[in-house]
Amino acid sequence: MKAIAIKDNIYWVGGIDWDLRNFHGYLTQRGSTYNAYLVIDKKITLIDTVKRYLCDEMIERIQSVADPSKIDYIISNHVEMDHSGSLPILAEIAPTATILTSPSGHKGLTAHYPSGLNLKAVGAGETLSTGAYTYHFVLTPMVHWPDNMVTYLPEERILFSNDAFGQHIASAERFDDEYLLDIIMQEARKYYANIVLPYGEQVKKALAAASSLNIETIAPSHGIIWRKNIGAIMSAYADWAGNKTSDKALVIYDTMWESTRKIARAIARAFENRGFRTLLMSLQTNHISDIMTELVDAKYICVGSPTLNNNMLPTVSAFLTYLKGLAPKNRIALSFGSFGWGGQSVGQVEEVLKSCGYAMLESIKIKYIPDADTLNRITEKLEKEIS
Ligand code: FEO
Repeated sequence: MKAIAIKDNIYWVGGIDWDLRNFHGYLTQRGSTYNAYLVIDKKITLIDTVKRYLCDEMIERIQSVADPSKIDYIISNHVEMDHSGSLPILAEIAPTATILTSPSGHKGLTAHYPSGLNLKAVGAGETLSTGAYTYHFVLTPMVHWPDNMVTYLPEERILFSNDAFGQHIASAERFDDEYLLDIIMQEARKYYANIVLPYGEQVKKALAAASSLNIETIAPSHGIIWRKNIGAIMSAYADWAGNKTSDKALVIYDTMWESTRKIARAIARAFENRGFRTLLMSLQTNHISDIMTELVDAKYICVGSPTLNNNMLPTVSAFLTYLKGLAPKNRIALSFGSFGWGGQSVGQVEEVLKSCGYAMLESIKIKYIPDADTLNRITEKLEKEIS
């Protein structure tokens, strides 16, 4: 396995996780990569590492262009173990290498690897000269851990952005002009929706800092490297961080005996009639991480559950827990469902949606099986309420 040049003397030396299908609960149908970059200058620098089980692959790629024991610096932009997991092995291979990380990264790496690493904290705005190159460190806390930073190399106009702008894609291609852009953007959206979404305000600050840099290449820590469509991904991040929505409605539900599905279809019909892009997403067939991807720019979030044992269905509860954690803002929500006698589910769903801070439409709660007239009334009433 070889290193792949992204510039003269700058190489991608990461690991490809072809079989990854779940990243802490996020469905990764296309696998992923952990991108590490080797920069050969007077001093040799490695930027980030890979999950521990792919360390051999990274070492083999490094060996194709340099002796790993000669690495002088390792820049650790982020403590999470998909990027730091190989640090202890590298520390044995290159014992004189200094590991540079943010002050919060210093604490995090010390806690993760208590046997000891040769760590040095770098503050905001600090630089490191390695000969021809000067690395600039930009702290980006909470995008998406407290320790996050990005590294900018002005001589080559490369931003090593770590998780930001990443996508979970395993591929033979490394650059955005070699792979289908629609897929890259969709996976970048999914990554944002499931990893970065709660930190919109911090993303805005990071984008403001990036806007002052002259960037020719964005080298993230997952997936494809951006060198052609930098404006497109920056603009998408600005929209997502701003919670910008479109005329789009998601009707998300589970059902027991089809009644809640019938209500869901009546609701979807109202949005369609009003010209909304409307998605009917059953929790029996859609993973919550795929629903979140669609939810990023949806103005309306409708959630339905029948009542089972005095509660909403567990699938709906799991989705709402996930939604509340990721916390998209500035939405309008609707709770709906059918019931037999207790009927608690609709109120429970409404409480969670309210706690997310959403404006609420009047909830829809139908006993047993809705007939055609009832469904028509639901559609007609909702059509009038949609703005
Ligand atoms: Fe790719 Fe936050 O780790």
